[in-house]
Amino acid sequence: MSERLQRAIAQAGITSRRKAEELITAGRVTVNNEVVTKLGTKVDSHDHIEVDQVPIQRESIHTYLFYKPRQVISSVKDNKGRKTVLDFFTDFSYRLYPVGRLDYDTSGLLLMTNDGELANHLMHPKNKIPKVYVAKIKGNLKAPEIKKLVHGVMIDHKLSAPAHVKILSNDYEKKTSIVQLTIHEGHYHQVKRMFEAVGHYVEKLSREKYAFLTLESLNSGEFRELSHEEVYKLRSL
Ligand code: URA
Repeated sequence: MSERLQRAIAQAGITSRRKAEELITAGRVTVNNEVVTKLGTKVDSHDHIEVDQVPIQRESIHTYLFYKPRQVISSVKDNKGRKTVLDFFTDFSYRLYPVGRLDYDTSGLLLMTNDGELANHLMHPKNKIPKVYVAKIKGNLKAPEIKKLVHGVMIDHKLSAPAHVKILSNDYEKKTSIVQLTIHEGHYHQVKRMFEAVGHYVEKLSREKYAFLTLESLNSGEFRELSHEEVYKLRSL
């Protein structure tokens, strides 16, 4: 697959795409030993790219949809020796990392990638990527509480963005509810804190959907690589 030169340089982790553009226009970049100053020049994985006479290390780009189990930490290392998401991706020569995080005790859809630009795009708050969570909460959710969640609740002295709320089931004997919450923000413990703000403790949480992607056909602990079309669609969100 071909890509733009500035993207290939940014992707190699040397610098941002904007700085890469500056390097190109300044005549500091060669492609197959020829100086290239035109932005947007297409390169593919066979092209030899140098910046200031130093070859860039090119890695093929991959993004996976992972069904994260509970009791797995969403970082690439853990100093407490707990299982990490990378323990599920052991035979890969490239360095994958998670796009955002799910709590240790949260299960569900987590993207794993080595595409820095895609990760930045998806995590940038301005892009408002919708995420669908299903929470089992203590107590039954009542209409005024739903209204509050929909309009936004105070978290860290800030109002959360409006959410979409749907009660999936109520157990009036055990006094629990299963609630679907759709949000685009991703602050630390966002869902748990939103429910806490309306007086409900989250007993169990899973992320069922990320943008248009679902966990369909995956079991907990499994992953699949995204298709080019899916990656393209994510990029254009
Ligand atoms: N909100 C939470 O509280 N926890 C998660 O893992 C994800 C969203």
